Amino acid sequence: MPVKTIEWVGGQDGVARMIDQTLLPAELKYLDVKDVETMWEAIKTLRIRGAPAIGIAAAFGVYLAVRNTPGDDYAAFKAELDRAADYLGSARPTAVNLFWALRRIQNLAAAHTHEPVPAIQARILDEAKRMIDEDNTVCRAIGEFGLQTLLEQPRRTSTTERPLTVLTHCNAGGLATAQWGTALAPIYLAAERGILIHVYVDETRPLLQGARITAWELQQAGIPVTLITDNMAAAVMAQGRIDAVIVGTDRVAANGDVANKIGTLGVAILAKEFGVPFYVAAPTSSIDMQLESGDLIPIEERKAEEVTEGFGRRTAPVGVAVYNPAFDVTPHRYVTALITENGVLRPPYTEALNRLFTPTTAGM
Ligand code: MRU
Repeated sequence: MPVKTIEWVGGQDGVARMIDQTLLPAELKYLDVKDVETMWEAIKTLRIRGAPAIGIAAAFGVYLAVRNTPGDDYAAFKAELDRAADYLGSARPTAVNLFWALRRIQNLAAAHTHEPVPAIQARILDEAKRMIDEDNTVCRAIGEFGLQTLLEQPRRTSTTERPLTVLTHCNAGGLATAQWGTALAPIYLAAERGILIHVYVDETRPLLQGARITAWELQQAGIPVTLITDNMAAAVMAQGRIDAVIVGTDRVAANGDVANKIGTLGVAILAKEFGVPFYVAAPTSSIDMQLESGDLIPIEERKAEEVTEGFGRRTAPVGVAVYNPAFDVTPHRYVTALITENGVLRPPYTEALNRLFTPTTAGM
C-alpha cells in the first residue's frame, strides 16, 4: 500500500503531517505544518506537490489560518478565511485543484454563516479530512477504469507472459494525491491483482519528479520500474517497448486540452508518431469547464536555478538566460482517452466533458 502523502494528526489543535518530497529519495522525512505560512511555503517549494495533494494541503492551510480567530467575531473569521484563500491560491497557478479546494472551503463556510464561528471552524477541518477520503475513493475508481482500459487495448510488447509495459512522466502517483495516485492507480491495482506490469519512468527535468518520486514510490511498492532520461522516450517507443503512456494532469480545459508537467507534450507527440495510446488520468477536480481551451490555462514559470543548478551544482554558465515553464499543454487531438473517476471519456471531448458535468435527470 502506498504511503500517506498528507494526513491530519490530533484534534482541532493538531497538525497537517506531510512527507517532505524535496528530500526524496534520499530521506523519508515528515513535516508537521502548524500555520498557513508554512503551508504556503510547502506548496510553493514542492515539499507537497501534484494537483490533488496541493488541493488537500490548501484546505488544511485555510483551517490553520482560521482556527484561532475569536469565536465571537464572525467578521474577523471571514476576513481571515478570504485572506488565507487568496494567499494559498497565490502559491501555484496551474493546478486547478488548488482553487477547487479553496472554493469548496469558502462555499462550505458561506453555507453555515448562521452557525457560531467555532462550529464553522470545526466544519472546515472535517471537510479537509473528508477530501482525503474522497481522494482515495476517486483514485481507486480511476485505477479500475484505467486498468480496464489498459487491458482492453491491443498490446504491442506484451503477451500474457510478458508484462504490460507503460510509460509515465513526472509523478501522478500516490505522492501526488492523498495515497493512491491517478496515473499510477491502475498500476497499483494491476500489481494487487497479480497482473504483470512494468513501468518506464521519465526522469522529468528539471526537478526530477520521475526519478526522485515515481521511481521511489514504485520501488517501495515492489513494482518493476525502469528509469530513463527524458530524451530516451523516443527511442524506447521506437523500439516497441511501450504498450501505452499514462500521465496525470494539473488542469483539463473544456475541449479536452491537458496541462501537465513540462515534457508531457513531447511524450504525447511521440506516442502519436509511434502508434502508442496516450491516456490522461483526470479526476473531475482537475477539469476546468470555465476554460474553453488549453491556451487559457495559466502556466507557472519557476526560477532559473532549477535549470542551471538543479543537481546541486552549476551546470550552465552564470548569467545565461533561462526559460523555465513548469507545465505544458497537450492539445486534445493527442489524447486517446481521459480516465476519470466517473468513466473513460473519448473524443470528441467537448461533448464528452459536457455530458460528464450535466446532471442526469434519470429517475426524476
Ligand atoms: O510540479 P508538480 O510536481 O506539482 O507537477 C505535478 C504534475 O505535473 C502531475 O502530473 C499532476 O499534478 C497530476 S498529479 C495526480
